[in-house]
Amino acid sequence: MVFGVSGFRKLRKDQPEKPPRPDKDGVIYKPLEPLGERLQAWRTVIEDARQMAIYDRVAESVDAERYVALQEKYAAQIRENEQRATTKYIDLAPWFMIHSRLARLLDLDRRPPCSILDIGSGGGQFLAIAKAHGHQTLAFDMPEPDHYRDLLALFGIDRVEGAVELGKPLPAAIGKFDLIVINGQVFDVFKDRSKRWKLPEWAGLIRYLCAHHLNYPGELFIGLNKSDGPTGTEEFYWPLVDLAEKHGATVDRKYATMDFKLEHPLTLDEIDAVEWGSPSPR
Ligand SMILES: C[S@@+](CC[C@H](N)C(=O)[O-])C[C@H]1O[C@@H](n2cnc3c(N)ncnc32)[C@H](O)[C@@H]1O
Repeated sequence: MVFGVSGFRKLRKDQPEKPPRPDKDGVIYKPLEPLGERLQAWRTVIEDARQMAIYDRVAESVDAERYVALQEKYAAQIRENEQRATTKYIDLAPWFMIHSRLARLLDLDRRPPCSILDIGSGGGQFLAIAKAHGHQTLAFDMPEPDHYRDLLALFGIDRVEGAVELGKPLPAAIGKFDLIVINGQVFDVFKDRSKRWKLPEWAGLIRYLCAHHLNYPGELFIGLNKSDGPTGTEEFYWPLVDLAEKHGATVDRKYATMDFKLEHPLTLDEIDAVEWGSPSPR
């Protein structure tokens, strides 16, 4: 059975207060509440008609019975966890809301079908939106936690397990894509957590991805995360945003996002980039 949101289009009189954005402090995640109620509540936050259509399409694509089974599987873990634990991603609606904004930015609702790789895909809500709009999708993420794998299976999205590691190629099986998305990533923290990547590390990864995993013309989107890092209260890494802008990326300084539309691989020659290996031949 596929869940439909059409019955919720008209707001009820007893409509609860609008919840805040999921990337703001103070959001209460409710991964055990009925999907329909959550989808209805978060729909009210969207003001843009195009974003709302994107949200509705992904909402309608979710298999409600399988979602309930997933809630039951993780119920005990969710109850034990605090709000900041990754089981918050089982609450689909806030993430559909935030990622439908990104999907709109990237024209996923208007561009012809293309192939998309999401690096550090988490619960896969962005790729679920992409898939619901006819795109070919692949997730790349760490093997843990299990509920990310189960969420991707719920959406019917293939996943390659592994990690972005400094200087190391991605598995060759990943292949090439028209669009690569890295959003809210946390792999730029050194293993001992004493520091974060700077331009040489970032430039090495970007150069590597452009050389080995992007089709041309192609697009590379990077949205930074500021909440992880040595102190846990990091600022966005602005030098990367500045560099991206200098190389023609469309940047949004409110969210520290960079969107490179590329005809040729980006080499960032002025940066003494960290060397990256090449994927082994398939
Ligand atoms: C904050 S979540 C963002 C999830 C998703 N991109 C989103 O926007 O909703 C960070 C993600 O990065 C993944 N991650 C952490 N370290 C990683 C690494 N070294 N390589 C690949 N992914 C990693 C985590 O498993 C998680 O899925």
